[in-house]
Amino acid sequence: MTQPSLMEMKINNTPEDFAHLLQDMGNIFWWPAGNFWVITAYDVAKDILTNPNFSCDRTPFFVSRMPNLNLELIQDFFAVVSKMMVMSDYPEFTNRRRICYDGFSNQSLDKLVPLIKTTIQNQLARCKKVNQIEFVADFAKMIPSITLAEFFSIPGNEREDFYCWSNNMTQFFGGASSYTNEDGVEVNNSASKLKNYFRGLIEQRKNLPQNDFLSILIQHKDAFGLNEEEIISQAIMMLVAGQVTTTDQMCNNLYTLMCHQEVKAKLWQEPGYIDNALDELNRLDPAVTFIFRVAKEDAKVGLETIKAGDVVFISTHAVNRDPKQFDHPDECILTRTNNKQISYGYGGHYCLGAKLAKQEMRLCFLELIQNFPKLSIDINIAPVRKHHSLAFSGFERLALSF
Ligand code: HEM
Repeated sequence: MTQPSLMEMKINNTPEDFAHLLQDMGNIFWWPAGNFWVITAYDVAKDILTNPNFSCDRTPFFVSRMPNLNLELIQDFFAVVSKMMVMSDYPEFTNRRRICYDGFSNQSLDKLVPLIKTTIQNQLARCKKVNQIEFVADFAKMIPSITLAEFFSIPGNEREDFYCWSNNMTQFFGGASSYTNEDGVEVNNSASKLKNYFRGLIEQRKNLPQNDFLSILIQHKDAFGLNEEEIISQAIMMLVAGQVTTTDQMCNNLYTLMCHQEVKAKLWQEPGYIDNALDELNRLDPAVTFIFRVAKEDAKVGLETIKAGDVVFISTHAVNRDPKQFDHPDECILTRTNNKQISYGYGGHYCLGAKLAKQEMRLCFLELIQNFPKLSIDINIAPVRKHHSLAFSGFERLALSF
C-alpha cells in the first residue's frame, strides 16, 4: 500500500491524531513524497524561524512545484508576491514590515472596534430572526471581510470580489500539490486585479489623503525608501493574510470549543477567561498548519544536515502539542499560562495582524457567550472541514443551534 500524502493525512485525521502521526516520525524528518523536511519539535521550529540562514523567499519552492505550469502565465503574481514582507529577508524585509507596523498601531485597531461590534450585532439579529446560525458565512467570513474592507475603504459592492481574489491567492500560497495552467491564469488574474485596484486607490489617496492604512503607507513611503510597487505588495499582503486565516481560525476555535463541553461551560460561567481560551483553542487547531522556509546554506539541525536549497515545513499542529513545551498537550486548559504556541508564527515574521484577529474573535465569542447560553453544534447538519491546501485549513460549514 502506498503511503498517504501529508495532505491526505491532514484531511483524514483529527488535529490531535495528525499531530501525533507526525511526531511519531521524529523531531525532524525527510518527507520524500513532498521533497522537503518536516519539523515537529518546538525547539527546532524556534531555531529555524529565528535563523537568518533560512530564507522566506519561497519562490524556488513554488517554481519546483509547477512543472506543468507555464510560468509566463503568472508573472503578475510573482511580481506582487516577491515584494511582500512575508517573502522577504533582511535587509529589504525590515522597511517593508516597519512601514506596515506603523500603519497598524493600537490606535488604528481601536478605531475598528465599533465596526466589528456592529457587524456582530447585525449578524446576531439576523440569526435570531431566522433561528439558525451557519457560523462560517454568518460570522467567520463576514467579520474579517467587513473589517478589512473598512481598513482599506473598499466599497461594499466590491467586497465579494476582494474576498474571492484574496482567497484565491491564499490557496495558491499554501503549497497546493499540483499547479495547472488554469490555476495559474486564475491566480495571476487575482493578483493583477488587486494590483490595479490598489494602484487606482493610491492615486486617489495621493490627491485626497484619508485617515486610513493606505494613506499612511503613501505618506511614509519615501522615509522608508520604498517604491509604489512595494507599497502595493504590502497592501495586498495585509489583505490576503488577514482574510481567510481569520475566517478559518475563528471556525477552528469555535468547533474545538464546542467539542469540549466542560471547557465551554466554564467559559460561559467566567467569560474573563476569553483570552486564555482563544490562545488554547488556537494552539489545538491552528488555521495555518505549516510554516515553511528554504535553507540558504547547509545547516546542521539536530542530527540532520539540511542542504542549501532544501525546504523545511514546520507543522504547527505538532509543534503546538510538543510535550516538552506543553504539559498535557492534548488537553484544552483554560488556566494554561505561558502558552507559547506558534499558530501566528515566531520570530521576526510573527503575524502582524495577530492583535486584530484576536480582537475580532474575542468580540465575536463574547457576544455568543452573552446571547446563547445553549450554543452547540447543530446535530442535524454535520460540520464540514475545508482544507484549502497543505498550509491552510478551516471549515466549509459549521451549523450551530442555540
Ligand atoms: C487568526 C488569523 C491569523 C492567523 C492564524 C495568522 C497566521 C500567521 C502566521 C503563521 C504568520 C507567519 C508566516 C511565516 O512566518 O511565514 C503570519 C504572518 C503575517 N500575517 Fe497573519 N495570521 C492571521 C491574521 C492576520 C491578519 C488579520 C493580518 C492583517 C490584517 C495578518 C497579517 C500578516 C502579515 C502581514 C504577516 C507577515 C509578517 C512578516 O512577514 O513579517 N495576519 N500570520
